[in-house]
Amino acid sequence: RTRPFQVAIDGPAASGKSTTAKMVAQRLGFSYIDTGAFYRCVTFAALSEGIDPSHLSNADKITALAEKLDIELQTVFSEKPDSYNRTTSDWNSASDASRQHQLPTTRVFLDSKDVSSDIRTGTVSKHVSAVAAIGPVREAVLQKVRNIGATDVEAQTNNGINSSARSRAAGLVMDGRDIGTVVLPLADLKVFLVADSHVRAKRRLQELVKNGADPSIDDTHLNLHAVQADLELRDEMDRTRKISPLRRAVDAMDLDTSNLTLEQQVDIIVQEVHRRRSHQKT
Ligand code: CDP
Ligand code: CDP
Ligand code: CDP
Repeated sequence: RTRPFQVAIDGPAASGKSTTAKMVAQRLGFSYIDTGAFYRCVTFAALSEGIDPSHLSNADKITALAEKLDIELQTVFSEKPDSYNRTTSDWNSASDASRQHQLPTTRVFLDSKDVSSDIRTGTVSKHVSAVAAIGPVREAVLQKVRNIGATDVEAQTNNGINSSARSRAAGLVMDGRDIGTVVLPLADLKVFLVADSHVRAKRRLQELVKNGADPSIDDTHLNLHAVQADLELRDEMDRTRKISPLRRAVDAMDLDTSNLTLEQQVDIIVQEVHRRRSHQKT
C-alpha cells in the first residue's frame, strides 16, 4: 500500500470541518488541505477586479481567473504533533491556553500575497457559492487541489528525515463540500459533519467576535440571525447546485457536532482512522 491514508470531511458551512480537520491532521501527523480556501480565493480575486459573481455573464472571466491564479496553502503544526495528546485524558487536562497555542493555523497565499483574512470577509462569503457553482471554475480548482495533494505529500516524503515529517506524508485530511463524493471518492474514511444551524451561527459569530468584531448586546441578537440566515442561504445554494452539490457520500460516517466538544469530535475521527488502518494491515 503506497498511497497515503485519505480522510475526507464534508458538511455545511461552519459545521466545524476545518478546525476538526486541522486537529485530526495534527494528531495523526497528516497533511491538511482546505478546499474552501480555493473557492474563496477565486471569489476574492474576482471582487478585487470589480467582477460581480452574481452575474452569470461573468462566468468566463471568473473561470479565466481561476485557471491563472497561483494559490498556496501553508499549515503550521506544532513541533511535536502527537506528544501532548496520546490519550484523551492528556488532552482534557491540558489548559485552554495550551490548546489554543497548539491549534494549527493555515495561511493562504494568492499570487504570493497573504490573503488569509481577506478571503474570510462577509462579502466574500456572500458571493462564494455563486462562484463555486460555475462548472469550469470547479474543474480548475480540482486540478489545483489534486496537484497540491500530490506535491504536498511528495515533498514531505522526500524531506522526511525526521519522523514527524515522514509520518505526515502517511496521510491527508481534506475538507470541503464534495470531497467524499467527487474529489476523493476512494477515501479511506469519509466523515459528514453536521450541526444545528443555530449552533453553527453561534459558533461562527463567536469566531467573528474573537477576530475583532465588537457587537453590542442588541447587535449580537441581530447579528446572530443575520449570520444564521447567511449560513442557511449558502447551504441551500451549495446543496441545490447542479455540479458537485453538497451531499453526504453513501459510505460516509455521520457526525453531529451540535452537542460535542471539539476534542470529542476529533477523538471520534482519530479513533476511526486507527481502527481502519489496523483493519487494512490485516
Ligand atoms: O468555512 P465555511 O464552511 O464557511 O466555507 P468554506 O469551506 O471556506 O467554503 C466556502 C464555499 O466554497 C462553500 O460555501 C462552497 O460554496 C464552496 N466550496 C465548494 O463548493 N466545494 C468545496 N469542496 C469547498 C468549498
Ligand atoms: O470549516 P467549517 O466552516 O465547517 O467550520 P470551522 O471554520 O471549523 O468553524 C467552526 C467553529 O465552531 C470553530 O470556531 C470551532 O472552534 C467551533 N466549534 C466546533 O467546530 N465544534 C465544536 N464542537 C465546538 C465549537
Ligand atoms: O469491515 P467493517 O465492517 O468492520 O468496517 P470498515 O471497513 O471500517 O467499514 C465500515 C463502513 O465504513 C463500511 O460499511 C463503509 O460504509 C464505510 N467505509 C468507508 O466509508 N470508506 C472506506 N474506505 C471503507 C469503509
